[in-house]
Amino acid sequence: MGCGAVQPSHSRLPAHLAGLVLALAWVVALAVPSLARADAVLSQQKNCNACHAMEGTITGPSLKAVAQKYANDRTAADKLTTRILKGGVGVWGPVPMPANPQLSEAEARRLAVWILGLK
Ligand code: HEC
Repeated sequence: MGCGAVQPSHSRLPAHLAGLVLALAWVVALAVPSLARADAVLSQQKNCNACHAMEGTITGPSLKAVAQKYANDRTAADKLTTRILKGGVGVWGPVPMPANPQLSEAEARRLAVWILGLK
């Protein structure tokens, strides 16, 4: 007698926790790729794609080549933010990148950080 007295009423709590964890994982999984997509869209809107592809040189170096070149350079985000805003020449070849005054500094930094994170 007495063995069946314990009701499994406590099992509801872990079920809810598991649901919460799943929901959080889902939110993170959705948010991360869409942030990366927002940066890709920004680069399209700002016309970077006219001269830069993910892979393969067009007029400018591929964005992945830029990420590789600066992989070990801790000042790269600052450097590239300035280059994106003001343009530059001679790092990749004789063709200059024109200045991009249509970008705010925050947008340029966002693109620099995004490019440096590409693999
Ligand atoms: C008219 C063509 C053109 C456009 C538009 C353009 N770029 Fe460039 N970009 C270049 C060229 C050419 C280079 C190589 C310059 C050099 O050799 O120093 C370059 C270089 C770069 C580099 C590497 C700089 C360095 O010093 O290593 C980054 C990062 C970059 N571009 C990002 C961008 C972003 C972001 C945009 C959009 C806002 C953009 N570019 C728009 C042509 C362009």
